[in-house]
Amino acid sequence: MANRGKRLSTNVEGNFFVDHTCINCDTCRQLAPLSFREIGEYSSVSYQPVTELETLEAYRSLLACPVGSIGTIHPDKNILCRAQDSFPLLLEGEVYYTGFNSEKSFGANAYFIRHPEGNWLIDSPRYVSRLLEAFDQLGGIKYIFLSHEDDVAEAARYATRFQGTRITHADDAEAVPGAEWIVNERHPFQMSPDFLIIPVPGHTPGSMALLYKQRFLFTGDHLWWDRDTKSLEVPSVYVWNEEQLHQSTRLLLDYPFEWVLPGHGSRVHLPSSNMRLELNRLVQSFQGVKAPSI
Ligand code: SF4
Ligand SMILES: [Fe+2]
Repeated sequence: MANRGKRLSTNVEGNFFVDHTCINCDTCRQLAPLSFREIGEYSSVSYQPVTELETLEAYRSLLACPVGSIGTIHPDKNILCRAQDSFPLLLEGEVYYTGFNSEKSFGANAYFIRHPEGNWLIDSPRYVSRLLEAFDQLGGIKYIFLSHEDDVAEAARYATRFQGTRITHADDAEAVPGAEWIVNERHPFQMSPDFLIIPVPGHTPGSMALLYKQRFLFTGDHLWWDRDTKSLEVPSVYVWNEEQLHQSTRLLLDYPFEWVLPGHGSRVHLPSSNMRLELNRLVQSFQGVKAPSI
Protein backbone atom coordinates (compact mmCIF):
# COMPACT_ATOMS: atom_id res chain seq x y z
CA MET A 1 0.00 0.00 0.00
CA ALA A 2 1.52 3.30 -1.07
CA ASN A 3 2.18 5.84 1.66
CA ARG A 4 1.23 9.46 1.07
CA GLY A 5 3.84 10.52 3.60
CA LYS A 6 6.52 8.93 1.39
CA ARG A 7 5.21 10.58 -1.79
CA LEU A 8 8.02 11.55 -4.19
CA SER A 9 8.30 15.29 -4.75
CA THR A 10 8.73 14.62 -8.47
CA ASN A 11 5.04 13.64 -8.86
CA VAL A 12 2.80 16.26 -10.44
CA GLU A 13 0.01 17.40 -8.08
CA GLY A 14 -3.19 15.36 -8.20
CA ASN A 15 -4.84 12.11 -7.26
CA PHE A 16 -2.20 9.56 -8.26
CA PHE A 17 1.28 9.48 -6.74
CA VAL A 18 4.33 7.20 -6.49
CA ASP A 19 6.14 6.87 -3.17
CA HIS A 20 9.83 6.30 -2.61
CA THR A 21 9.51 2.51 -2.20
CA CYS A 22 9.47 2.31 -6.04
CA ILE A 23 12.06 -0.17 -7.39
CA ASN A 24 12.01 1.40 -10.88
CA CYS A 25 10.87 -1.82 -12.60
CA ASP A 26 9.16 0.04 -15.50
CA THR A 27 5.83 -1.83 -15.21
CA CYS A 28 3.71 1.31 -14.71
CA ARG A 29 5.46 3.08 -17.58
CA GLN A 30 4.58 0.19 -19.90
CA LEU A 31 0.93 0.12 -18.85
CA ALA A 32 0.29 3.86 -18.64
CA PRO A 33 3.11 5.61 -20.50
CA LEU A 34 1.21 8.89 -20.53
CA SER A 35 0.92 9.09 -16.74
CA PHE A 36 4.20 7.63 -15.48
CA ARG A 37 7.74 8.64 -16.33
CA GLU A 38 11.19 7.74 -15.05
CA ILE A 39 12.59 10.67 -13.12
CA GLY A 40 15.93 10.02 -11.46
CA GLU A 41 15.94 6.52 -9.98
CA TYR A 42 12.17 6.21 -9.65
CA SER A 43 8.94 6.40 -11.59
CA SER A 44 6.78 9.43 -10.94
CA VAL A 45 3.38 10.61 -12.04
CA SER A 46 4.16 13.05 -14.84
CA TYR A 47 0.57 13.58 -15.94
CA GLN A 48 -2.62 12.98 -13.96
CA PRO A 49 -5.06 10.80 -15.91
CA VAL A 50 -8.15 12.63 -17.15
CA THR A 51 -10.11 10.37 -19.46
CA GLU A 52 -11.70 7.11 -18.37
CA LEU A 53 -9.18 5.07 -20.34
CA GLU A 54 -6.23 6.99 -18.90
CA THR A 55 -7.62 6.47 -15.41
CA LEU A 56 -8.20 2.76 -16.03
CA GLU A 57 -4.60 2.40 -17.24
CA ALA A 58 -3.29 4.20 -14.16
CA TYR A 59 -5.28 1.85 -11.90
CA ARG A 60 -3.91 -1.13 -13.83
CA SER A 61 -0.44 0.20 -13.08
CA LEU A 62 -1.35 0.58 -9.42
CA LEU A 63 -2.41 -3.09 -9.28
CA ALA A 64 0.49 -4.41 -11.36
CA CYS A 65 3.14 -2.51 -9.37
CA PRO A 66 5.10 -5.28 -7.62
CA VAL A 67 5.79 -3.28 -4.47
CA GLY A 68 2.61 -1.24 -4.03
CA SER A 69 4.34 2.09 -4.61
CA ILE A 70 1.46 3.71 -6.48
CA GLY A 71 -1.38 5.29 -4.53
CA THR A 72 -4.36 7.58 -4.88
CA ILE A 73 -5.58 10.29 -2.55
CA HIS A 74 -9.21 9.67 -3.51
CA PRO A 75 -9.58 6.03 -4.57
CA ASP A 76 -12.30 5.24 -7.10
CA LYS A 77 -13.42 1.73 -6.16
CA ASN A 78 -15.47 1.39 -9.31
CA ILE A 79 -12.57 1.86 -11.70
CA LEU A 80 -10.23 -0.04 -9.39
CA CYS A 81 -12.54 -3.07 -9.66
CA ARG A 82 -12.73 -2.69 -13.42
CA ALA A 83 -8.94 -2.56 -13.60
CA GLN A 84 -8.67 -5.66 -11.43
CA ASP A 85 -11.19 -7.56 -13.54
CA SER A 86 -9.33 -6.62 -16.71
CA PHE A 87 -6.42 -8.87 -15.65
CA PRO A 88 -5.26 -11.07 -17.24
CA LEU A 89 -5.19 -8.52 -20.02
CA LEU A 90 -5.85 -9.89 -23.50
CA LEU A 91 -3.06 -8.96 -25.92
CA GLU A 92 -4.19 -10.83 -29.01
CA GLY A 93 -6.07 -14.04 -29.78
CA GLU A 94 -5.56 -16.28 -26.76
CA VAL A 95 -2.44 -14.59 -25.38
CA TYR A 96 -2.66 -12.52 -22.19
CA TYR A 97 -0.40 -10.40 -19.99
CA THR A 98 -1.24 -11.45 -16.43
CA GLY A 99 -0.65 -8.21 -14.49
CA PHE A 100 0.17 -8.40 -10.77
CA ASN A 101 3.94 -8.43 -11.33
CA SER A 102 5.92 -9.97 -8.50
CA GLU A 103 8.67 -8.33 -6.47
CA LYS A 104 10.31 -11.78 -6.33
CA SER A 105 11.12 -11.43 -10.03
CA PHE A 106 11.94 -7.70 -9.72
CA GLY A 107 8.61 -6.92 -11.33
CA ALA A 108 9.00 -9.08 -14.44
CA ASN A 109 5.99 -9.48 -16.73
CA ALA A 110 4.25 -12.84 -16.87
CA TYR A 111 1.96 -14.14 -19.62
CA PHE A 112 -0.77 -16.72 -20.14
CA ILE A 113 -1.78 -18.69 -23.23
CA ARG A 114 -5.15 -20.37 -23.48
CA HIS A 115 -4.70 -23.50 -25.55
CA PRO A 116 -6.99 -26.45 -26.39
CA GLU A 117 -4.30 -28.93 -25.34
CA GLY A 118 -3.68 -27.21 -22.01
CA ASN A 119 -2.95 -23.66 -20.95
CA TRP A 120 0.50 -22.17 -20.39
CA LEU A 121 1.73 -19.69 -17.81
CA ILE A 122 4.95 -18.01 -18.90
CA ASP A 123 6.97 -16.95 -15.85
CA SER A 124 5.15 -16.09 -12.69
CA PRO A 125 3.04 -13.22 -11.42
CA ARG A 126 2.09 -12.71 -7.76
CA TYR A 127 -0.15 -15.40 -6.29
CA VAL A 128 -3.41 -13.45 -6.01
CA SER A 129 -7.04 -14.51 -5.84
CA ARG A 130 -8.06 -12.53 -8.95
CA LEU A 131 -5.63 -14.54 -11.09
CA LEU A 132 -6.53 -17.85 -9.45
CA GLU A 133 -10.19 -17.20 -10.30
CA ALA A 134 -9.38 -16.12 -13.83
CA PHE A 135 -7.08 -19.08 -14.51
CA ASP A 136 -9.78 -21.41 -13.15
CA GLN A 137 -12.32 -19.85 -15.52
CA LEU A 138 -9.92 -20.12 -18.45
CA GLY A 139 -9.33 -23.83 -17.81
CA GLY A 140 -6.39 -24.02 -15.39
CA ILE A 141 -2.67 -24.24 -16.11
CA LYS A 142 -0.97 -27.26 -17.66
CA TYR A 143 2.54 -25.89 -18.23
CA ILE A 144 4.53 -23.22 -16.44
CA PHE A 145 7.36 -22.13 -18.72
CA LEU A 146 10.20 -20.50 -16.80
CA SER A 147 12.31 -18.34 -19.10
CA HIS A 148 15.23 -18.22 -16.65
CA GLU A 149 16.22 -18.37 -13.03
CA ASP A 150 15.34 -14.75 -12.14
CA ASP A 151 11.62 -14.90 -12.93
CA VAL A 152 10.46 -17.97 -11.03
CA ALA A 153 8.59 -16.00 -8.32
CA GLU A 154 5.48 -17.99 -7.29
CA ALA A 155 5.78 -20.77 -9.89
CA ALA A 156 5.85 -23.48 -7.22
CA ARG A 157 2.56 -22.30 -5.72
CA TYR A 158 0.89 -22.13 -9.12
CA ALA A 159 2.25 -25.60 -9.97
CA THR A 160 0.79 -27.02 -6.76
CA ARG A 161 -2.56 -25.26 -7.12
CA PHE A 162 -3.10 -26.25 -10.77
CA GLN A 163 -1.01 -29.44 -10.87
CA GLY A 164 1.06 -27.72 -13.54
CA THR A 165 4.36 -28.87 -15.00
CA ARG A 166 7.18 -26.38 -14.45
CA ILE A 167 9.57 -26.30 -17.40
CA THR A 168 13.06 -24.99 -16.72
CA HIS A 169 16.45 -25.42 -18.32
CA ALA A 170 18.96 -27.65 -16.54
CA ASP A 171 21.46 -24.79 -16.40
CA ASP A 172 19.04 -22.59 -14.39
CA ALA A 173 17.28 -25.43 -12.57
CA GLU A 174 18.75 -24.67 -9.15
CA ALA A 175 16.23 -21.85 -8.90
CA VAL A 176 13.35 -24.30 -9.40
CA PRO A 177 13.65 -27.06 -6.80
CA GLY A 178 11.41 -29.99 -7.68
CA ALA A 179 10.83 -28.80 -11.28
CA GLU A 180 8.67 -31.33 -13.08
CA TRP A 181 10.42 -30.97 -16.47
CA ILE A 182 14.09 -30.12 -16.84
CA VAL A 183 15.20 -29.24 -20.36
CA ASN A 184 18.67 -30.53 -21.25
CA GLU A 185 18.58 -29.63 -24.95
CA ARG A 186 20.95 -26.95 -26.21
CA HIS A 187 19.19 -26.52 -29.55
CA PRO A 188 15.62 -25.47 -30.39
CA PHE A 189 13.05 -28.23 -30.23
CA GLN A 190 9.38 -28.48 -31.09
CA MET A 191 7.43 -29.43 -28.02
CA SER A 192 4.16 -29.64 -29.94
CA PRO A 193 3.02 -28.18 -33.28
CA ASP A 194 2.34 -24.74 -31.75
CA PHE A 195 5.23 -24.51 -29.29
CA LEU A 196 8.94 -24.26 -30.04
CA ILE A 197 11.37 -24.04 -27.12
CA ILE A 198 14.56 -22.12 -28.00
CA PRO A 199 17.47 -22.21 -25.54
CA VAL A 200 19.01 -18.69 -25.56
CA PRO A 201 21.97 -18.80 -23.15
CA GLY A 202 23.59 -15.43 -22.50
CA HIS A 203 21.78 -13.43 -19.83
CA THR A 204 21.91 -16.63 -17.75
CA PRO A 205 23.23 -20.06 -18.75
CA GLY A 206 19.75 -21.57 -18.81
CA SER A 207 17.74 -18.79 -20.46
CA MET A 208 15.05 -20.02 -22.85
CA ALA A 209 12.62 -18.36 -25.26
CA LEU A 210 9.26 -19.80 -26.26
CA LEU A 211 7.90 -19.32 -29.77
CA TYR A 212 4.15 -19.80 -30.02
CA LYS A 213 2.46 -20.28 -33.40
CA GLN A 214 5.40 -18.59 -35.14
CA ARG A 215 3.93 -15.26 -33.98
CA PHE A 216 4.56 -14.74 -30.27
CA LEU A 217 8.10 -14.89 -28.91
CA PHE A 218 8.34 -14.94 -25.12
CA THR A 219 11.87 -13.84 -24.33
CA GLY A 220 12.37 -13.52 -20.57
CA ASP A 221 15.26 -11.09 -20.19
CA HIS A 222 16.96 -12.06 -23.43
CA LEU A 223 15.34 -9.55 -25.80
CA TRP A 224 12.94 -6.63 -25.47
CA TRP A 225 11.75 -3.42 -27.15
CA ASP A 226 13.26 -0.14 -26.04
CA ARG A 227 10.57 2.58 -26.19
CA ASP A 228 13.09 5.42 -26.28
CA THR A 229 15.32 4.16 -29.07
CA LYS A 230 12.45 2.30 -30.75
CA SER A 231 14.63 -0.73 -31.27
CA LEU A 232 15.16 -4.26 -30.04
CA GLU A 233 17.69 -4.58 -27.25
CA VAL A 234 19.53 -7.32 -25.39
CA PRO A 235 21.01 -6.92 -21.91
CA SER A 236 24.31 -5.06 -21.57
CA VAL A 237 24.56 -5.67 -17.83
CA TYR A 238 23.72 -8.77 -15.82
CA VAL A 239 25.16 -10.85 -18.65
CA TRP A 240 26.57 -14.29 -17.88
CA ASN A 241 28.26 -14.66 -21.30
CA GLU A 242 28.17 -11.94 -23.95
CA GLU A 243 29.33 -14.11 -26.85
CA GLN A 244 26.66 -16.66 -26.11
CA LEU A 245 24.10 -13.86 -25.78
CA HIS A 246 24.94 -12.63 -29.27
CA GLN A 247 24.97 -16.14 -30.71
CA SER A 248 21.56 -16.82 -29.18
CA THR A 249 20.21 -13.61 -30.71
CA ARG A 250 21.52 -14.47 -34.19
CA LEU A 251 19.76 -17.81 -33.88
CA LEU A 252 16.40 -16.02 -33.63
CA LEU A 253 16.83 -14.80 -37.23
CA ASP A 254 15.92 -18.36 -38.27
CA TYR A 255 12.37 -17.92 -36.98
CA PRO A 256 9.46 -15.69 -37.98
CA PHE A 257 7.62 -13.82 -35.21
CA GLU A 258 5.57 -10.66 -34.79
CA TRP A 259 5.45 -10.17 -31.04
CA VAL A 260 8.29 -9.85 -28.54
CA LEU A 261 6.91 -10.49 -25.06
CA PRO A 262 9.68 -9.97 -22.52
CA GLY A 263 9.99 -10.25 -18.75
CA HIS A 264 11.63 -6.85 -18.45
CA GLY A 265 11.39 -4.11 -21.05
CA SER A 266 8.54 -3.28 -23.36
CA ARG A 267 6.39 -5.57 -25.43
CA VAL A 268 6.22 -4.92 -29.16
CA HIS A 269 4.10 -6.06 -32.08
CA LEU A 270 5.44 -5.49 -35.59
CA PRO A 271 4.79 -7.09 -38.96
CA SER A 272 7.04 -10.12 -39.28
CA SER A 273 9.17 -8.47 -42.00
CA ASN A 274 9.74 -5.35 -39.86
CA MET A 275 10.58 -7.49 -36.85
CA ARG A 276 13.19 -9.27 -38.92
CA LEU A 277 14.68 -5.95 -40.00
CA GLU A 278 14.86 -4.82 -36.38
CA LEU A 279 16.45 -8.08 -35.30
CA ASN A 280 18.92 -7.85 -38.16
CA ARG A 281 19.80 -4.31 -37.12
CA LEU A 282 20.47 -5.51 -33.58
CA VAL A 283 22.58 -8.43 -34.77
CA GLN A 284 24.58 -6.10 -37.05
CA SER A 285 25.40 -4.01 -34.01
CA PHE A 286 27.19 -7.04 -32.54
CA GLN A 287 29.79 -6.97 -35.32
CA GLY A 288 33.28 -7.36 -34.02
CA VAL A 289 32.27 -9.84 -31.34
CA LYS A 290 33.48 -13.30 -32.31
CA ALA A 291 30.65 -15.83 -32.08
CA PRO A 292 31.51 -19.23 -30.65
CA SER A 293 29.90 -22.39 -31.93
CA ILE A 294 27.51 -23.93 -29.44
S1 SF4 B 1 5.43 -0.31 -11.20
FE1 SF4 B 1 5.86 0.39 -9.10
S2 SF4 B 1 7.95 -0.26 -8.67
FE2 SF4 B 1 7.66 -0.42 -10.87
S3 SF4 B 1 8.40 1.55 -11.67
FE3 SF4 B 1 6.19 1.79 -11.35
S4 SF4 B 1 5.97 2.62 -9.29
FE4 SF4 B 1 8.04 1.83 -9.46
FE1 LIG C 1 16.83 -11.84 -15.54
